[in-house]
Amino acid sequence: MINAKIIGVGGYIPEKVYDNAYMESIVDTSDEWIIRRTGIKERHISADNEYTTDMATIASKRAIENAGLTAEDIDLIILATVTPDYFTPACACVVQANLGAVNAAAFDFNAACSGFVTGLTIAQKFIQTGTYKNIVVVCADVLSKATDYKDRATCVLFGDAAGAAVVSASEETGIIATDIGADGASGMAITSLAYRDDEEEVEKRISHKKDTLWMAGQAVMKFAVKTMAEASEKVLKEAGLTWDDIALVVPHQANYRIVESAIKRMGITDDKVFLNLEKYGNTSASCIPVALSEAVEAGRIKKGDKIILVGFGGGLTWGAALIEW
Ligand code: ACO
Repeated sequence: MINAKIIGVGGYIPEKVYDNAYMESIVDTSDEWIIRRTGIKERHISADNEYTTDMATIASKRAIENAGLTAEDIDLIILATVTPDYFTPACACVVQANLGAVNAAAFDFNAACSGFVTGLTIAQKFIQTGTYKNIVVVCADVLSKATDYKDRATCVLFGDAAGAAVVSASEETGIIATDIGADGASGMAITSLAYRDDEEEVEKRISHKKDTLWMAGQAVMKFAVKTMAEASEKVLKEAGLTWDDIALVVPHQANYRIVESAIKRMGITDDKVFLNLEKYGNTSASCIPVALSEAVEAGRIKKGDKIILVGFGGGLTWGAALIEW
């Protein structure tokens, strides 16, 4: 089997910031509540004329440069989003054109916040079968454009970002094991409506705006803690490794309390976990690649380190990947 390895990463964070003081000015909340219940201090917000493909293009470009490749070297672009510019063309096709990646096939997929690990899993299969050599897995969302800023239970959580990785055929060990899964029966715990008329769903939203995100926070939290721990254990077992072999865990950056409870279940200490959620909040699928790229830049990851990437999200879905850097 051919190995699939991450050989480049890149991220993009929009400039505008909503800090907790700003959130206090628009909903009945407090800096103290947000920090104690979530750990989030700031979130970055896309400009009015800035969309998913704009951010995804920049993150992809940075990842391709970081990998030492050019856009023409890319065989496939897969893009995870829940906030596409259009239903068609796919965001991945727009990014392909923006990059000039003329040799790349391109498609979008939706695994919400589990998008990066799902994308790595897809990329690994295409590489292992010899179909493609260089794949961009890019995640981008403008959650701020789908946020109900009247709903204090969700609006304090979300921000915008894009993160990308180049996954390539390699002689070195790379992606060792992945586990992705879904609990569709619990899917209505996080909703954002498209064509289906669903009065009940619209009624749940404080703004009654169909195109905003609604979430049953506590149910998602329980699901997150359980699945993050179980999926991580599963990839460890599949690789025949233990937590002692793992240098760093890069989790989905939704809420500090979720991460804290999950690592308690895993039986690891927080010095093995990379967190940046206080700066960005939950940026959907891009949380993990943005955190991964910051962890590399900060020197928290060195060659040969074994790392677990683990997330959960809408669907409901989950995913874990054990990789060697
Ligand atoms: N400020 C002040 N009070 C608030 C706020 C706020 N921003 N938000 C909620 N509250 C209140 C509630 O109204 C409630 O008040 P009540 O007791 O008078 O009814 C009280 O705080 C407790 O509310 P809970 O919902 O029980 O609070 P909880 O501790 O569960 O925290 C939170 C809420 C932060 C949303 C948490 O449930 C959570 O993080 N869930 C997971 C969300 C997530 O990570 N989703 C990821 C997927 S999203 C995606 O895929 C795009």
